[in-house]
Amino acid sequence: MSPLAAGYPIGAAASVEQLTADPHALLARLRAAEPVSWLPALNGWLVTRHDLALQVMKDAATFTVDDPRFSTAQVVGPSMLSLDADEHARHRAPFSRQFRPREIEDRFGDFVRAECGRLVDGFVATGRAELRRALAGPLAVAVMADALGLDSTDAKRVLAWYDAIVSAVAEISAGHAPDQPDPLGAQAFGELRAHIEGSAAKPSLLAEAAQALALPEVVSNAAVLMFGGIETTEGMIANLLLHLLTNPSQMDVVRADPSRIPDAVEESLRLEPAAAVVDRYATRDVELAGATIARGDLVTVSLTAANRDPALFDRPDDFDLLRPNLRHQLAFARGPHFCLGIDLARLETRVAVETVLDRLPGLALTDAATPAGLVFRKPDAVHVRWDAP
Ligand code: HEM
Repeated sequence: MSPLAAGYPIGAAASVEQLTADPHALLARLRAAEPVSWLPALNGWLVTRHDLALQVMKDAATFTVDDPRFSTAQVVGPSMLSLDADEHARHRAPFSRQFRPREIEDRFGDFVRAECGRLVDGFVATGRAELRRALAGPLAVAVMADALGLDSTDAKRVLAWYDAIVSAVAEISAGHAPDQPDPLGAQAFGELRAHIEGSAAKPSLLAEAAQALALPEVVSNAAVLMFGGIETTEGMIANLLLHLLTNPSQMDVVRADPSRIPDAVEESLRLEPAAAVVDRYATRDVELAGATIARGDLVTVSLTAANRDPALFDRPDDFDLLRPNLRHQLAFARGPHFCLGIDLARLETRVAVETVLDRLPGLALTDAATPAGLVFRKPDAVHVRWDAP
């Protein structure tokens, strides 16, 4: 056992399988006894306390994303997700204004409502469906296709690009092809670039960014929007449906008062953030809660663990949308890299749930399911039935 692992017995015993399946009990033990722990399974440090998670994410000078090991940047090139300081601000600023809540409602509100309605129309008569693949996934893809200036018939292309880029990133993360980019990923990225080059003159989210950034930079950031906005949003919607369907008293609260749906969205994000971790790299030797972190070490922040910190949240494992401080959840990260798509993801999730509750009376889960995943956590499926018209 390495000297590092010897100092962190809980971390030393943790496996990727445990972290992937149901990590909450393990994360609670780490948070209590080794809040900054060395996990050989991750070849890095894992931060599990809420206050320390905030500290790491807010201090980009010490804990940076800008490192050649960062897998997404190896596939799509430098973007806001993989840069810090002035370069980060230069890449992010041209998109920021367009992602403000007001702009998001004006630009996407009608589209999201129409798309949810159209998707539910497709299966409402059947009385049974699997809502992750019939609603959450297609909605997230359609919104991204629209945001990238493609029409909805091109959603399949967006999904194909997305799948190719995700698998190229996953290959690199798994250490399979660190020096040789996956050809499919490169091809998908090339197609995305050709599309954006061909449509940069049309008014769109990207056209505005193209006024401030070079075209290859717009393309890299567009890939990051797609990478950041599809699987996470699908998971966010699926997790919330599951949380409501398995907590009847909470479902009653939102049925009695639909204005509570945004609170249910936040509480679901707290209990099971769709993106479970964010990765940083130490820029210098640094002490954190007694741990001696060396320059260059990987420092992974567990948003999942921080969100169940009992120092902040009473009965942290309960789904309770009436808790007063649910907005302290960290599912969208904090600091300079806090999620750009927060209000779009919230809009999609709120409208998806409103539509389901409105259109599918007597909705009930037919098969048990729980969220799982190391980085992206969601249920494999959300099988439901309802009283068909
Ligand atoms: C419409 C949907 C979404 C879009 C367009 C989107 C876009 C983005 C972008 C562009 C960033 C990088 C910001 C930066 O580095 O400055 C980001 C970061 C992030 N997003 Fe999202 N996102 C979406 C949905 C979500 C959802 C549903 C979640 C989780 C529930 C999520 C979690 C995060 C997290 C944790 C980060 C921080 C990554 C880090 O600090 O390393 N996002 N998002």
